[in-house]
Amino acid sequence: MLSWSPLANFFWDLHCKIYFLLVGICSALKLTVPSHTIHGIEGQPLHLTVDYNFNTTASEIQIIWLFERSQSNPKYLLGSVNQTVVPDLEYQHKFTLVPPNASLMINPLRISDEGNYIVKVNVRGNGTIAASQKVRVAVDVPVTKPVVYTEPASGVVEYVGNITLKCTVERGTRVVYQWMKNGKPLHASPTYTFSSNNATLLIVPVVKEDVGNYSCLVSNPVSAMESEIIAPTIYYGPYGVRVKSDKGLNIGAVFTVDMGEVILLDCSADSNPPNTYSWVQKADNATQVIQHGPHLEVVSDKVAQKTIDYVCRAFNNATGKRDETHFTVVVTSVGLEKLAQKGKSLSSLAVITGISLFLILAMAFLFIWKRYQPHKVIRQKLQSRYRNK
Ligand SMILES: *[C@@H]1O[C@H](CO)[C@@H](O)[C@H](O)[C@H]1NC(C)=O
Ligand SMILES: *[C@@H]1O[C@H](CO)[C@@H](O)[C@H](O)[C@H]1NC(C)=O
Ligand SMILES: *[C@@H]1O[C@H](CO)[C@@H](O)[C@H](O)[C@H]1NC(C)=O
Ligand SMILES: *[C@@H]1O[C@H](CO)[C@@H](O)[C@H](O)[C@H]1NC(C)=O
Ligand SMILES: *[C@@H]1O[C@H](CO)[C@@H](O)[C@H](O)[C@H]1NC(C)=O
Ligand SMILES: *[C@@H]1O[C@H](CO)[C@@H](O)[C@H](O)[C@H]1NC(C)=O
Ligand SMILES: *[C@@H]1O[C@H](CO)[C@@H](O)[C@H](O)[C@H]1NC(C)=O
Ligand SMILES: *[C@@H]1O[C@H](CO)[C@@H](O)[C@H](O)[C@H]1NC(C)=O
Repeated sequence: MLSWSPLANFFWDLHCKIYFLLVGICSALKLTVPSHTIHGIEGQPLHLTVDYNFNTTASEIQIIWLFERSQSNPKYLLGSVNQTVVPDLEYQHKFTLVPPNASLMINPLRISDEGNYIVKVNVRGNGTIAASQKVRVAVDVPVTKPVVYTEPASGVVEYVGNITLKCTVERGTRVVYQWMKNGKPLHASPTYTFSSNNATLLIVPVVKEDVGNYSCLVSNPVSAMESEIIAPTIYYGPYGVRVKSDKGLNIGAVFTVDMGEVILLDCSADSNPPNTYSWVQKADNATQVIQHGPHLEVVSDKVAQKTIDYVCRAFNNATGKRDETHFTVVVTSVGLEKLAQKGKSLSSLAVITGISLFLILAMAFLFIWKRYQPHKVIRQKLQSRYRNK
């Protein structure tokens, strides 16, 4: 095993920098690595690519690879002089070097291969120049598709239960968990609590707004996987009971229907599971359930009164909650009134027509009379005058 001191390298670099400042030729050997941290996948080959160039004539090129696990002394892995590779026999099956290329291939990469890799290149020409680089290698096992477990597996009642979502992955290192709701990252809030590693999501208390598509996104530097979508069953409601009619006018909770017409009323409310509905008719002080189900048909000609009060009740058998809405059906004799109005307008039209007709006739008479009568008189007068002459 070769012993190599990072301190020596530091001093070399320092010496080089000063020399470069004075003479401007020290960067004669330039050693570069694409990245100082590389994430490798366990079980797969990993290339630590290294590039170097120099501007002197080399008589000898030496490449040395060392491995350093945290806090321990660097270990010699392999080295080369010109085209000859000298491996450490302990690791020879694992590391490959093809000089003068200084790149190192590790195959297969294991978790235990995680650490720092140091490469040192020495070029002997007119004197010896050297350079080194350090690359940190992190080894990860790709994550498998996560599975989410819901507790309880059955549904929970709003404000009563709580929901625990557990994200599990079979394989994967350095797993980072992220919960998603409807495709967007979920953040901690008074109702959403995460376990310390974010693998568990606790929803307390559960409300209607928690209904949604949840998924767990797991990732590490070399992979990412998302679970199937989980839509926990949340029982809620009823909320916003309302009645709609197929026809007729409704202003607020008052439905106006023409006498003789049939009106179909629909009751709905937001809930899970669907509500059961019942219709109540209020007459005097008495209330009476007249129908079950979401629809009610009011046949207005069968109705004795002109104004009837109703209630639609929605009941959710899972939450045990109910809600109701009151409304009134007003039966108008709008049809008859219209007829009466038509009659009135008809008679007034007749009067107007009569008067107009009378006026026209009268004027026509006056016109005819004026046209013929005065002419006759004048003609007679003229005729008598001529006769006299
Ligand atoms: C490396 O090659 C050069 C010329 O190509 C030669 O002079 C030198 O002796 C070689 N070094 C070794 C250790 O073989
Ligand atoms: C050195 O080897 C690596 C990996 O085999 C390759 O990607 C790279 O291009 C080589 N470099 C040179 C200068 O041939
Ligand atoms: C080698 O170094 C000597 C003295 O330092 C210098 O005269 C000579 O030109 C150099 N040769 C090359 C090839 O750089
Ligand atoms: C969640 O609900 C369970 C019962 O369903 C209860 O035992 C537990 O204490 C609840 N957890 C919280 C944090 O309220
Ligand atoms: C858990 O998630 C939050 C953001 O939702 C993040 O800030 C935190 O770093 C995560 N914790 C862990 C251990 O991943
Ligand atoms: C949840 O997913 C289902 C089907 O994948 C979709 O129909 C529904 O709209 C989604 N819900 C939300 C709130 O995105
Ligand atoms: C309605 O109820 C009140 C008391 O709640 C009672 O005094 C009244 O007589 C009742 N009217 C009818 C028509 O039942
Ligand atoms: C509750 O209501 C739903 C839907 O109306 C029905 O399918 C279910 O059987 C009811 N459950 C009970 C326990 O009554």
